[in-house]
Amino acid sequence: MFSLRVDDEIELGLLEDRHARPLFELMEQSREHLRAWLPTLGNLKSVAEVESFIKEALQRFANHNGFQVGIWYRGELAGIIGYKYWDWTAGQTELAYLLGQKYTGRGIMTRAAYQLVEYAFNDLGLNRVEIRCATGNATSRAVPERLGFTREVILRQVFRKYDQLLDLAVYGMLAGDWQRPEAGEQ
Ligand SMILES: CC(C)(COP(=O)(O)OP(=O)(O)OC[C@H]1O[C@@H](n2cnc3c(N)ncnc32)[C@H](O)[C@@H]1OP(=O)(O)O)[C@@H](O)C(=O)NCCC(=O)NCCS
Repeated sequence: MFSLRVDDEIELGLLEDRHARPLFELMEQSREHLRAWLPTLGNLKSVAEVESFIKEALQRFANHNGFQVGIWYRGELAGIIGYKYWDWTAGQTELAYLLGQKYTGRGIMTRAAYQLVEYAFNDLGLNRVEIRCATGNATSRAVPERLGFTREVILRQVFRKYDQLLDLAVYGMLAGDWQRPEAGEQ
């Protein structure tokens, strides 16, 4: 199964059925933190619902249309990150992610996202990576900003969060603009 080492602390591995329970437990520990910005994923209510989410993601991988990986930080499942789709015609993809609350503030997501941007350009041969964040989600927006993405546009009222329609900031990185940060600057 697919796995990718990011550095000596972080490893990414394809999410499989057997990860449903640990992922559900991680989500349970971080319910309010996740529900704040992820009205669908943040509200998965049982191991069975997480299993369905993983199955759907594995199907996407089988269809060459993206994948979802777990982020293991010092051997513990800390979060997930994935390509929502692979558009082979335009050569583009979109990243989405979440971390358990106790794993925030350590650069885990920035490092994991960096690795999947590298993988998108160098291994998949894609030309564009997008990250979309609610404009009010400052910690999420900070991830593409740290990686040097361009804030391209604000889409108005396209994201339903419970009873509100929120604006999304669209960040883009092109293969030709991607530069490896110096070591330690990710
Ligand atoms: C969005 C989310 C993943 C961001 O988590 P995060 O911990 O802020 O992001 P990182 O793991 O990249 O960590 C960055 C922090 O670690 C620090 N850091 C430490 N070492 C670092 C390193 N090597 N590289 C980068 N940052 C580092 C940064 O300074 C930053 O700290 P700060 O917030 O005090 O400025 C998390 O808040 C989350 O899961 N939110 C709920 C779900 C969600 O909103 N998902 C996104 C939907 S669009």
